[in-house]
Amino acid sequence: MTAENGFEILLVTFPGLEEELKAEVKSLGFRPTGTIPGGVLLTGGWTDVWRANLRLRGVSKVLVRIGSFRAFHLAQLDKRARKMPWADFLRPDQPVRVEVTCKGSRIYHAGAAAERISRAIAEELKAPVSDDAVVCVKVRIHNDVCTFSLDSSGDGLHRRGHKEAVNRAPMRETMAALFLRQCGYTGDEPVLDPMCGSGTFPIEAAEIACGLFPGRSRTFAFEQFATFDPLAWQALQAMEKPRQPAFMFRGSDRDPGAVRMSQENAERAGLAACTAFSQQTVSELQRPDGPPGLVILNPPYGTRIGDRKKLTGLYRSIGQTMTERFSGWRVGIITTDAVLARATGLPFNHTGAPVLHGGLRVSLYLTGRLG
Ligand SMILES: C[S@@+](CC[C@H](N)C(=O)[O-])C[C@H]1O[C@@H](n2cnc3c(N)ncnc32)[C@H](O)[C@@H]1O
Repeated sequence: MTAENGFEILLVTFPGLEEELKAEVKSLGFRPTGTIPGGVLLTGGWTDVWRANLRLRGVSKVLVRIGSFRAFHLAQLDKRARKMPWADFLRPDQPVRVEVTCKGSRIYHAGAAAERISRAIAEELKAPVSDDAVVCVKVRIHNDVCTFSLDSSGDGLHRRGHKEAVNRAPMRETMAALFLRQCGYTGDEPVLDPMCGSGTFPIEAAEIACGLFPGRSRTFAFEQFATFDPLAWQALQAMEKPRQPAFMFRGSDRDPGAVRMSQENAERAGLAACTAFSQQTVSELQRPDGPPGLVILNPPYGTRIGDRKKLTGLYRSIGQTMTERFSGWRVGIITTDAVLARATGLPFNHTGAPVLHGGLRVSLYLTGRLG
């Protein structure tokens, strides 16, 4: 296995949004080789790994498969793990941690397996092992096959690096980006979220329209790998060509704290000039000046019995505001409940596959342009 003729790269995402991620992967010139539940597969080298981390909006983690072998007991795992070419990938001066999952295998104790692999790396590579290391070797022991991957991302990629303030139940940036894509949003229309919380949808949509790279403000675990090439990395970063969109990205919320948070998050992302946030309820919302675009929101879902009854009025008022004041706009609502979606009275013509969000299954309900 050599770096540039390629290894398998797993782009981890949310089950239910694999096809949207695959489309994004293709749009950036990568050639995906397939999808699995919760992931898109790619064959590539280190440049692809760096570029995927820097540019892909819908990926939670970029994992690099570095090897696999069979092992039926811990002594065999230990022996074979010692033979892995660790120094080809990892640096002896960087702390490492090991995470193991076991399924359907004779080696069933993940902790014992992690301890053997950690010791093998510590003794063969002479790298320190530490629970809070940025560099993580992920090992899957399934049906007696041990598959070794490096987590090239480090912190989850929804952490764009400029969002400090979050409210309750924020939508992850990665998921928001894929829902925007599911709405057919490509960066050439205004976007408005009338229940914006911490501002995830307007900020993500504005970044896309501005041509900003999602990974521009953060660091990645691959910067600590033996294979890292700072000059090649700088060249990839320099490909960002920001532009100023001709329209605004708006958010509003009834909660003044959420509005403040959204403004601060947008400022830190360098998007103050093309975003605007205001405090108002959805029924107070007026159609903004300018061309029509996309309204996207994830209203409160309600998880307890009786919530649906309370929320029906809220969903009805969303529908009423949209129908009365937003002709020409499209509306995308992300919710757990088809009955609540229907309570809006909006003419949805597309329902997305269910996606796990905070332990619940949510789907996108999308209209065409309202009449
Ligand atoms: C599930 S959160 C949205 C999270 C947001 N997408 C994010 O990423 O942070 C729902 C939001 O709706 C707001 N909300 C609830 N009722 C509202 C109303 N009648 N008008 C406007 N906002 C409302 C809440 O304050 C909350 O911030």
